[in-house]
Amino acid sequence: MKPPSDHHDHGGHHGHGDRHGARQPERFDPARAALLDDPARFKYLPPAEVLRLLDPPPDATAIDFGAGTGTYAIQIARARPDVRVIALDEQPEMLARIRSRPEAALANLEPAGPDRLPDLAGRADRVLALNVLHELGDEALHALAALPAADGFVLVIDWNAAVERPVGPPRGHTYNQSEALARLEAAGFSAEPLAPAQYHYVIRARPRKTAAARSGAS
Ligand SMILES: C[S@@+](CC[C@H](N)C(=O)[O-])C[C@H]1O[C@@H](n2cnc3c(N)ncnc32)[C@H](O)[C@@H]1O
Repeated sequence: MKPPSDHHDHGGHHGHGDRHGARQPERFDPARAALLDDPARFKYLPPAEVLRLLDPPPDATAIDFGAGTGTYAIQIARARPDVRVIALDEQPEMLARIRSRPEAALANLEPAGPDRLPDLAGRADRVLALNVLHELGDEALHALAALPAADGFVLVIDWNAAVERPVGPPRGHTYNQSEALARLEAAGFSAEPLAPAQYHYVIRARPRKTAAARSGAS
């Protein structure tokens, strides 16, 4: 594991290896994964509301990018058996936790590691990035932008630094809505703010270049 040296709590401009550009300097610690399973989360961010905003078309492919322990991916897969839900996380410990949850044994729910990213590029009708933007370095944001299909979008929901809250990471590790919009725009998205939730901002982000244009562009 990484040594706990060079910890900056106001990140965004420091080098952190593959996390360069991330507001939260450290990787999410799998030792804290049980926090993600807490059903109290559903009170301030109901899965039904996340699904309404995600609005997957029939038979869609949806990627939960940074799915953690799969708490929201499971709810989405359960509510929409026609949607193929890919629960993607970079940490094998998190994928193992998803696989160990009996409620995750759903035919339409598929845990996946970052090795799947090249195959999935341009194929996602919907991408959910929940409580994850503040953890993403520039490279990861680039990978995220490559995922949506031509009519697809990324639904970005993350802790709002402008809101005092009893839960979630320190405010200095998160963005407010306008900072998040600016970061997404700088990364090649056209980003549209939606109505915020109690502790979260909500943004619909569409890559400015279609997947086809991207693959032809380089
Ligand atoms: C705070 S947790 C949120 C998990 C989940 N979205 C939820 O709300 O329950 C953030 C997760 O994003 C994952 N993550 C961070 N950067 C990632 C990346 N570049 N690619 C895939 N997963 C990533 C972390 O491993 C962690 O499991």
